[in-house]
Amino acid sequence: MLVPMKRLLIEAEKQNRAVGAFSVGNMEMVMGVIRAAEALRTPVILQIAEKRLKNSPLELMGPMMVSAAKNAGVDVAVHLDHGLTLDCVKTALGLGFSSVMLDGSLLSYEENVAVTKEVVFLASQTGATVEAELGVVGGNEGDTAEHIITCTDPDTAADFCSRTGIDALAVAIGNAHGNYPVLPALRFDVLEEINKKTVIPLVLHGGTGMTDGMFRRAISLGIRKINIATAGFDAYVRASDACLKKSPAADWFTLSAAAAEGVYNNTVRHIKIFNME
Ligand code: 13P
Repeated sequence: MLVPMKRLLIEAEKQNRAVGAFSVGNMEMVMGVIRAAEALRTPVILQIAEKRLKNSPLELMGPMMVSAAKNAGVDVAVHLDHGLTLDCVKTALGLGFSSVMLDGSLLSYEENVAVTKEVVFLASQTGATVEAELGVVGGNEGDTAEHIITCTDPDTAADFCSRTGIDALAVAIGNAHGNYPVLPALRFDVLEEINKKTVIPLVLHGGTGMTDGMFRRAISLGIRKINIATAGFDAYVRASDACLKKSPAADWFTLSAAAAEGVYNNTVRHIKIFNME
């Protein structure tokens, strides 16, 4: 069933766990994620970032993600990850996304507040959830430009949440998008302060490559949504590659099933950790 993301995060808060938010780029990825969530009877978030729309257009992906959520045997939120423009946010809301994010983290603080308030107003028209980001997460999810990490300031986070009325806050605590060249030293002390000074669910981006222990500690300090993108895309490619190595003459049907299975396995692995099992 398609549900507002906020509902999933509030439930996760009560159960001291986090909800996995898995980035998808095609039908096999959508199917792999949903099948994993159903197998583990755990709610999940399907998401796509605006910069991915070159490969996976929103007018094709959006209706498929929303339909998959509506037909799923578990609760599913459909989220626009790292929206770059208000136009894209409006389109996603029009397609029935139950959550949106406009990433204003590289804007000035006042600009981030102003644009986020606009997103909160737009989302209120459809009942969608709003995630925003403060501080700068490293990497850049697929682009060449690398951003210098700036940790979220806990007092500013409190001010940002009360001024904008957002539902979930993505924090920067040394995390980065993409595969980590070396394991990051996450600033759990900063996360703890942010958690003390804010009352809404917190979001951890850059989940690929973090250890189980890092996930568990982050969850114990208020993280309720964890984004996994690169690991899902890599699982898809690795499973396809293994399938072709095993059966060089494999047809499309076999390859499609193998790719979905790769995504399924990656999703299962992460959901089990996020459920704090
Ligand atoms: P990874 O690609 O590191 O998993 O990051 C995912 C993410 O945070 C998407 O917003």
